[in-house]
Amino acid sequence: MRTIGIIGAMEEEIAFLREKMEIVTTKSVLGLSYDIGRYAGNSIVLVKSGIGKVNAALCTQAMIDHFGVDYVINIGVAGGLSPELRVGDILISTDAVQHDMDTSVLGDTVGTIPRMAESYFKADEAMIALAEKAAEECGLDCRILKGRVASGDQFISSGQQREKIRKTVQGDCAEMEGAAIAHACYLNRIPFLIIRAISDDAGDEAGMSFDEFCVMAAERSSRLVEKMLEHM
Ligand code: ADE
Repeated sequence: MRTIGIIGAMEEEIAFLREKMEIVTTKSVLGLSYDIGRYAGNSIVLVKSGIGKVNAALCTQAMIDHFGVDYVINIGVAGGLSPELRVGDILISTDAVQHDMDTSVLGDTVGTIPRMAESYFKADEAMIALAEKAAEECGLDCRILKGRVASGDQFISSGQQREKIRKTVQGDCAEMEGAAIAHACYLNRIPFLIIRAISDDAGDEAGMSFDEFCVMAAERSSRLVEKMLEHM
């Protein structure tokens, strides 16, 4: 049986799936609690990574090393950057990039990780197809689009920051972990997918919108993944 690793940064982002899965045991690595169990005939490892790229990368590596996951799915919320995305909509990742990687003074483009073959980490095509199928079946009343996840160690909350990320790396949503998880998966050759629901527009009112819609958006992202798991 294949093992699917599921990572959310915050309690709100993993609570829904933790309620749904049958937890067999919980193991602690790096102070993180990995819930090991089953859902819809799949072997599942679910964990809260903590916020930001370093927490996310370490959590992913520990998940791969200690629990032998075959796939990684990152769930949670994001600020919408694409004009197509409204609060409550869902983005299925095509790829992910670190928008705060910036050695432009040395002649690189923003987002490029110097001396690395890849900087835009591609999500697994088969997992994207499964998510699209799940999107048709999940019965959620929102737009579900594919696009680029832009991650950085910043909560984006101004028009200026939004525009910079759109212009430099063409991100469709902004969050703080996806590209770090993608980076770790790329180095370990593990297929990954990011599913993020929009809690705010990353503009001036993003903080208030996040507070209001985080739980609703987190649940939507989890509902899509729940449907995906039924086909894995
Ligand atoms: N997660 C949810 N909204 C976000 C934002 N505006 N910036 C970064 N991460 C987020």
